[in-house]
Amino acid sequence: MKRHIRTLCLLGLSFFIACTTPNNEPLYLNENAPIEERVEDALQRMTLEEKVALCHAQSKFSIKGVPRLGIPELWMSDGPHGVRAEIEWDSWKYAGWSNDSCTAFPALTCLAATWNPEMAAIYGKAVGEEARYRKKDILLGPGLNIYRTPLNGRNFEYMGEDPCLAGVMVAPYIREAQKNGIATCVKHYALNNQETARMRVNVHLSERALREIYLPAFQAAVDAGAWSFMGSYNKYLGQHGCHNEVLINKILKGEWDFDGAFISDWGGTHNTPQAAQYGLDIEMGTGSDGLTYSTRNHYDNYHLALPYLDALKRGEQSIEQLDDKARRVLRLIFRTVMAKDRPWGSFATEEHAAVARQIATEGIVLLKNDGILPLTPETGKRIAVIGENATRTLLRAGGSSELKPHREISPLQAIEELYGEELVDYALGYGSGHSSYGRVNPSPYDAEALKREAIDVAQTADIVLFIGGLNKSHQQDCEDGDRVQYGLPFGQEELIRELCAVNPNVVVVILSGNAVETTWSHLPRAIVQGWYGGSEAGHALTDILSGAVNPSGKLPFSFYARLEDCGAHAFDESCYPGVDDECYYKEDILVGYRWLQAKGIEAAYSFGYGLSYTTFEIGAPTAKRTTYRAGDQISVSVTVKNSGSVAGKEVIQLYASKPESALMRAPRELKAFQKVSLEAGESKRVELNFDVDDLAYWDEVSHSWQLEKGNYIFYVGNSSEASESLQIQVK
Ligand code: BGC
Repeated sequence: MKRHIRTLCLLGLSFFIACTTPNNEPLYLNENAPIEERVEDALQRMTLEEKVALCHAQSKFSIKGVPRLGIPELWMSDGPHGVRAEIEWDSWKYAGWSNDSCTAFPALTCLAATWNPEMAAIYGKAVGEEARYRKKDILLGPGLNIYRTPLNGRNFEYMGEDPCLAGVMVAPYIREAQKNGIATCVKHYALNNQETARMRVNVHLSERALREIYLPAFQAAVDAGAWSFMGSYNKYLGQHGCHNEVLINKILKGEWDFDGAFISDWGGTHNTPQAAQYGLDIEMGTGSDGLTYSTRNHYDNYHLALPYLDALKRGEQSIEQLDDKARRVLRLIFRTVMAKDRPWGSFATEEHAAVARQIATEGIVLLKNDGILPLTPETGKRIAVIGENATRTLLRAGGSSELKPHREISPLQAIEELYGEELVDYALGYGSGHSSYGRVNPSPYDAEALKREAIDVAQTADIVLFIGGLNKSHQQDCEDGDRVQYGLPFGQEELIRELCAVNPNVVVVILSGNAVETTWSHLPRAIVQGWYGGSEAGHALTDILSGAVNPSGKLPFSFYARLEDCGAHAFDESCYPGVDDECYYKEDILVGYRWLQAKGIEAAYSFGYGLSYTTFEIGAPTAKRTTYRAGDQISVSVTVKNSGSVAGKEVIQLYASKPESALMRAPRELKAFQKVSLEAGESKRVELNFDVDDLAYWDEVSHSWQLEKGNYIFYVGNSSEASESLQIQVK
């Protein structure tokens, strides 16, 4: 529809072409004119060279505007958890500015774990304000690739294993961020589900898995109005994600009517004809040749620079396609840097720190608690804090999402602040080396000595808070490499066992963006999944440990008991990480909890699970009607009661199931959820609304969504193991 309106505008607009505003300004400069009119006006004034210049980088993070016409440059920044420090014009070195220390927001896995779209909205607003203040026009994020394996080094930048959860959570982030006159850049489209061989791997999967699992969150981002998208490094159908005929031209720009600009990942463009024809609008990279490693500043040699211009001049590439690219880039410029009433933004404010803290706190998931938590500050107990993640920076590494934070409150700092320095002892316990991008630096520590010291400290304490997990080094939670083990690294498992042997009151806190193996989970009295919490990570953790805030986070992905329990690891290497760079998604649509439930495998901790310091009673779900047709809305309601003694929030989740189906189905699929806040003793009626059409499956014969008729069962509860059910019929 949008496309038709645009075409009509274009036709009707020839009248306006080359028009001027009443004060004799060209139309494209008139902020009050409709964007499409400005685009057409600017386009028809531009030379071929000027149009091509819009299609590729002029520096690491910027593209030229049209200097002759006074159309400004576009500036970009990573993304997605805050605004990255300023990078040099033509190297990956930091520019050394002293005004670029940002607010670090929690990693996107943590945002997803809040299961609260309001948190996504305040996140998007605040990070958008920071990008705007730093004069960035495009924020490179959010990331939306589905969590397929817990080994993926970049899962922390994404929103979990479920398309419904990721889609609902991404929309408010995009809408609120873009209100600042900056574009979000949704990445990495698509199928960038592992970092191993990320530049080469060719993904094979069924059309159904593509449509039902891996694409819906991206479509939700388009529906939310995202102004730009970034391609993925990997291949699909033998073509790289940055110029892919099916993913970009057919689906994104065709079926979904995306009218924004499609930007390559850095060094993800591989040749001129494909880049010209298969949907790429802006080529970004690192060096002179469009590839990743090179030092000279020769952006003119990019695939979409001089080689493209020459091909256009020789008539080998179409001007119509070039005009489409230039239109999209101009549209992006008019939506952002030349937008009317663009706000000014704000940066590293106390308000933003408070937003980061609120989200980080709400995302923390309580996995186990036998009553040792909350640990109120008044008890006067001696606390032993053990573990590297109690003090290590978890923001200044990890790849492109690394941040230079204005402040980073460590767990140890916050624990000492709250419980009193005199009551807290600290021991590192284990240590790892610092490394990033393709390197693993060995630990410089004597592991035995660290362990002995930690055991000594633990023995004399009333309570042990072990704070470990993964970190942002290579082969942990870090770009350009997957994890090499599912269990906790650096000897942490053994350390946890030994700490539990000398002290009966151990609480384990895992800071990570991924699930880890928890064979030791029966030993500590409580387990907390704390994510990467950003600038206020320490405070967020103490808010939960102390009970100042009642935990309400829910897992956005399954914690498998063993790695082989994950569908991606249930087959041979061709399923993960691929053989000869060919990777087959053999688990098909059964990703995450769908696989576990289909195979009857018990999770260590299920998708959607998370405890609270209070208890909730969820009544039997009801619907107004029992029979529905395509196009109808379904509204399921349920009474939720806080039956405990403290206020808290609960996430009511609805999973659909089609018991008698003509095709293979996941036993349950998340269709709706809602977070509800309840005082102690309070009851509320919660409504879960969704469309009957959300129950459709992708039919590989007709290549379209089809709604199966018959009975459906909805399970309603507070995790993917929800037990209350309701049956309806689709006619
Ligand atoms: C990453 C992108 C990032 C870009 C720019 C690439 O290596 O994959 O996510 O936005 O670099 O830093």
